[in-house]
Amino acid sequence: MIKKDLSINFLGVKFPNPFCLSSSPVGNDYDMCKKAYEVGWGGIVFKTIGPKSYIINEVSPRFDALTKEAEPFVGFKNMEQIAEHSLEENLADLRRLKKEFPNKVLIASIMGNDEQTWEELARLVTEAGADMIEMNLSCPQMTSHAMGSDVGSNPELCKKYCQAVKRGSKLPMMAKMTPNVTDMVVVAKACLEGGADGIAAINTVKSVCNVDLQKMIGMPIVNGKSSISGYSGKAVKPIALRFIQQMRTGIPGIEISGIGGIETWEDAAEFILLGAKTLQVTTAIMQYGYRIVEDLTNGLMHYMDEQGVDSLEELVGKANKNIIPAEDLDRDYIVYPEINKDMCVGCGRCYISCYDGAHQAMIWHEEERKPECDHNKCVGCHLCALVCPVGAISKGEVVLKKTAKPGRSIKNIRL
Ligand SMILES: Cc1cc2nc3c(=O)[nH]c(=O)nc-3n(C[C@H](O)[C@H](O)[C@H](O)COP(=O)(O)O)c2cc1C
Ligand code: SF4
Ligand code: SF4
Repeated sequence: MIKKDLSINFLGVKFPNPFCLSSSPVGNDYDMCKKAYEVGWGGIVFKTIGPKSYIINEVSPRFDALTKEAEPFVGFKNMEQIAEHSLEENLADLRRLKKEFPNKVLIASIMGNDEQTWEELARLVTEAGADMIEMNLSCPQMTSHAMGSDVGSNPELCKKYCQAVKRGSKLPMMAKMTPNVTDMVVVAKACLEGGADGIAAINTVKSVCNVDLQKMIGMPIVNGKSSISGYSGKAVKPIALRFIQQMRTGIPGIEISGIGGIETWEDAAEFILLGAKTLQVTTAIMQYGYRIVEDLTNGLMHYMDEQGVDSLEELVGKANKNIIPAEDLDRDYIVYPEINKDMCVGCGRCYISCYDGAHQAMIWHEEERKPECDHNKCVGCHLCALVCPVGAISKGEVVLKKTAKPGRSIKNIRL
């Protein structure tokens, strides 16, 4: 088995590997966190600890899932707030975890409801032995509007609360962003101005996941009603990657902990290539358990080996330069689909999708049940390749458009 050093330095703290539990029920108490450390997670962001005065009273049931065909969890909706355990119990768990796992990274997630409580919580978790603080400025389903994503979408408040946390603690601190904003760069900048050392992104996306058609109520149903609340899991990965890419390119030197739909080592590598240094996971753990960290670490080590890198740091942000404004993309050529007739199983899906959803460029040969691309009609959109269930369609011949710039050649086009 290939072994590579997965350790990484994030905000001055050395993580044995970049994989962390994100703040949620997966890191709710001492026993859970102990098990997670033991199976190989590099760090834990403990379930968000709130002010003593804020009493948590959760609904039942509190989850829902978006499914598709055989997939039970395309996306996941939760209506949960912050830690239900008492402040004293949470601080005791933090103390015990740090004592028993001194080489693993312990991050305390906190959420105040005014400057004083933010400062006080920062002080308390520092005394309890946390290595780092994460400010939860982003839960979209708090029952108080003085907390959560209502705060996280207000840059001035974010700045003020970051300053309060910095008064309460000298620990490295990251501010956790809500994706329920148009421009995360503005909020992240305000947090950094307020003293945040780095950014964690993203928390959950506001959602209505499903509606029960007979009862005509959103899901989950709580005594005949439902609420808008946070959506996570695989479905939110593209949203998370977009925000991370924009922050990484919009704020020089920013350090980011990436969150949102990480399930596989490939997801993890994508977050790293767009600028995340550490990675946090909840929904995939809720679905599959802590052991997914074995696949995550092994896969990432193999990827490092394949890429010929010895340090994870070398990969951070490497793909950012290849995401450019739409107006700067090369619009001079078409790449036609190439159909591998040996692989094709004759299902006809490329033909149907091209006819009903693209440019009627697939010719269907009924006798042999095989498609053929008519280059006179094909625009090279590659919908057909995306719907083919056996991967029989790839990128083929490249041709210049009539509108291509004079002197353009197809040499050196990277597909
Ligand atoms: C059931 C549940 C509870 C959560 N509770 C918290 C929380 O207490 N604090 C917090 O910062 N984020 C909380 N989150 C958000 C996650 O930490 C994470 O940001 C989000 O789920 C996206 O990551 P994922 O797709 O890996 O789940 C919660 C998420 C879920 C699903
Ligand atoms: S690339 Fe688009 S237009 Fe061309 S055959 Fe495929 S689906 Fe049709
Ligand atoms: S979708 Fe793929 S397998 Fe189905 S007919 Fe088209 S090329 Fe063949």
